[in-house]
Amino acid sequence: MTLRSILLAPSKLLQRRGIQNLYRQYASGHREIPALTKERYPIKRGKFSEVSDGDIARFESILGGKNRVLTATEEIQGYNIDYLGSVRGFSRVVLKPKSTEEVSEILKYCNERKLAVCPQGGNTGLVGGSVPVFDEIVISLQLMDKIEKIDEYSGILVCQAGCVLETLEQKANEKGLVMPIDLGAKGSCHVGGNLSTNAGGLRLVRYGNLHGSVLGVEAVTAEGRVLDLMSNFKKDNTGYHLKHLFIGSEGTLGIITRLSIFCPTASKSINVAFLGLDSYESVKNTFLAAKRNLGEILSSCEMIDALSLESSTYHFNLQSPIEKYPFYMLIETSGSNIAHDEEKLTNFLESTMEKGLVLDGTVTNEPTKMRNIWKLRELIADSLINDGYCFKYDISLPLDNFYDIVLAVRDRVGPLATKVTGYGHIGDSNLHLNVSCPKYGSEIHKLLEPFVYEYTSNVRGSVSAEHGIGFLKTKYLKYSKRPESLLLMTQLKGLMDPNGILNPYKVLPQV
Ligand code: FAD
Ligand code: MLT
Ligand code: ZN
Repeated sequence: MTLRSILLAPSKLLQRRGIQNLYRQYASGHREIPALTKERYPIKRGKFSEVSDGDIARFESILGGKNRVLTATEEIQGYNIDYLGSVRGFSRVVLKPKSTEEVSEILKYCNERKLAVCPQGGNTGLVGGSVPVFDEIVISLQLMDKIEKIDEYSGILVCQAGCVLETLEQKANEKGLVMPIDLGAKGSCHVGGNLSTNAGGLRLVRYGNLHGSVLGVEAVTAEGRVLDLMSNFKKDNTGYHLKHLFIGSEGTLGIITRLSIFCPTASKSINVAFLGLDSYESVKNTFLAAKRNLGEILSSCEMIDALSLESSTYHFNLQSPIEKYPFYMLIETSGSNIAHDEEKLTNFLESTMEKGLVLDGTVTNEPTKMRNIWKLRELIADSLINDGYCFKYDISLPLDNFYDIVLAVRDRVGPLATKVTGYGHIGDSNLHLNVSCPKYGSEIHKLLEPFVYEYTSNVRGSVSAEHGIGFLKTKYLKYSKRPESLLLMTQLKGLMDPNGILNPYKVLPQV
């Protein structure tokens, strides 16, 4: 049993592989272009108009020219395919507004003409929500990336929805603040996309979800009405909290154009521990010990199984800082007093090692080493796609049943899968069950679904812990939402988007 702070070999992958690289892989033939969504899934196009040359001319007049209205096939391919390569639409136009007024003009026109639209942020979504199903017009928020204000006194950041999360993190750091959300896709995802999916991520265990951190939003409705729901105060109990309708509604109720968000103070003392454990039971008990011993300084608590680590180390040529174990945990602490935090961490590690829960580990507070440890975890998603195709399940489960499903699925799909792995945010009871294989196959798909969702529902889990419903899970929403709730959701959609033009075929089950 050793507790060592070791030098990690410098990683060959110094920067997160940009999501755009994935799209370049399609262009270069290294990745197979997925089948059209309408061919892989039984779905009927809604009664929307088709985009005409006259519509394109109108968009050009709203956006002031051609360069913000993309129509060339090679330019728009990346906007039609999702990050996973699981769905593909065939939109013929991508619009790039720069202001709320332009978004409003576009939606007003599309609503009158009954043209369906698909709002898109960084296109890192994992449920097929960010790309068109058929020929919906893509409204990309890429150019809406202004940071309006970061106030170090109140901790409030105000920005447009198309700001990239990592850029906001860097700017917030300069003011002694951090973003309340962090995720592996931070180099590409937009904060507006984060709100629209109510993304969870690696810091939720500490800062809670976006319903708590977001103070206000500005959103444009399907009919082009601008809703100013911006608030710069933590406390504002004036009637219904309408902003929450846009957090997590995945672009089906409106387009988020601006937001204000509370950024906590950056911690002076950050430590990362990477631990080896021999069973899921030990992982669970180590999590409990972390909560009890680390208390308020616990800022991340992640579980990684052996195959998940094997995947990121293999595909990205990374080196694990410890020997091989059946399970690993990545625990991060963030606090304001180095001596106090180290004492707590040491006590926690000593006690879990004495009890035989943790078998080996490494702890570091050096930024480069911490980043290298985080890469082992954050690159799991990308690495599994490198196997060819990856079925992703993002479920909330009671901790007593947390890992059993990985074993059950492994048994069920047998050699059809390359890997069946389990990792995720154990601190939030959120498991990422991933099944990789050489390419998409309907045989393995049928073995996985609805099995995974029925299993999850039987233990009263959630069929989508943090990624949302998008296109891929609409059929399975019923496993987590009762009919009365589904009815109210449908009624709300009808009220806010009477022509159903906003991100159709997403979230709500198709009738
Ligand atoms: P997109 O993918 O472009 O869109 C997602 C959805 O939001 C779509 O339905 C789209 O229509 C809608 N949308 C986007 N912008 C707007 C807007 N301004 N107004 C209205 N609707 C909009 N997710 C997590 O929750 N936790 C994680 O830890 C996590 N890690 C990830 C790691 C990797 C490597 C990857 C690839 C993805 C990860 N994700 C994670 C999923 C994804 O990054 C998040 O869902 C993210 O919030 C999506 O942001 P985006 O800007 O890419 O949105
Ligand atoms: C993560 O936590 O890494 C993300 O949610 C992506 C994934 O599920 O792989
Ligand atoms: Zn996650």
